[in-house]
Amino acid sequence: MSDLYTELADLYDAVFEWDVETEADWLVERLGASCRTVLEPGCGSGRMFAPLERRGLVITGIDNSPAMVARARARGTHATVVLADMADFDVGVFHGAICPINTLGHLSHDELAAHLRAMARALVPGAHYLLQLAIDAPLGEASRWEIERDGQHVRAQWSVESRDASAGVESHHSRFEVLAGPRAGEVHTQVHEMSFWTTETWAAAVAASPFVWTAVYDGASPGRPQLDFTATGGLLWHELVRP
Ligand SMILES: C[S@@+](CC[C@H](N)C(=O)[O-])C[C@H]1O[C@@H](n2cnc3c(N)ncnc32)[C@H](O)[C@@H]1O
Repeated sequence: MSDLYTELADLYDAVFEWDVETEADWLVERLGASCRTVLEPGCGSGRMFAPLERRGLVITGIDNSPAMVARARARGTHATVVLADMADFDVGVFHGAICPINTLGHLSHDELAAHLRAMARALVPGAHYLLQLAIDAPLGEASRWEIERDGQHVRAQWSVESRDASAGVESHHSRFEVLAGPRAGEVHTQVHEMSFWTTETWAAAVAASPFVWTAVYDGASPGRPQLDFTATGGLLWHELVRP
């Protein structure tokens, strides 16, 4: 497990706590008017909980990192947070589900298949599962951003540096430079071994699952326009429907 989700969980919170208000509006619209209860597998520290709660949703999150679960519970929202593996869980039945920021890239291809089976058991018929998964993201192109809030200032960088297409794995590199705040002066670099998905392998994985892949949206553009199923990139939102 990455130390970003353990000893550095506070740094994760600082780096990924960007404004998600328009994304929350969009997710609520895509989940549909009849959606009241939402499951977030790999919920981390609960970044999405309050924005979704403010829009009337009841959230259950699961994560296998005790540090992230503790931070998610400490947010003081009404969300139920369960320490569990998103490839093997049973926490009830929900109207919809979300999984942002390539979280599913942490699962191997076999674990992803188990995850989709568990998700199908956890969703009502007709439920939408909105998940963000990188498809053939460009190699060596770093995403760079800076977060400055509550006395913390962090300069962040994330890139996919290498991959083994036949094994379906790739190496993501991250670098976080803390310019101000409790960890001022610290620089953390990490290598994350993630799954590599192409349009073909992802389409085959969904076809072998209980879900139907109904749409792809561009998570990097305002308005999140719908794209062709052959779209590639690091921030695609995929819409799956549980028949
Ligand atoms: C990129 S973070 C995303 C967190 C949150 N969804 C968000 O949008 O901020 C990925 C999360 O997935 C969790 N995770 C990774 N593998 C997992 C697994 N097999 N089961 C449950 N959680 C897992 C990590 O602990 C981490 O909190």
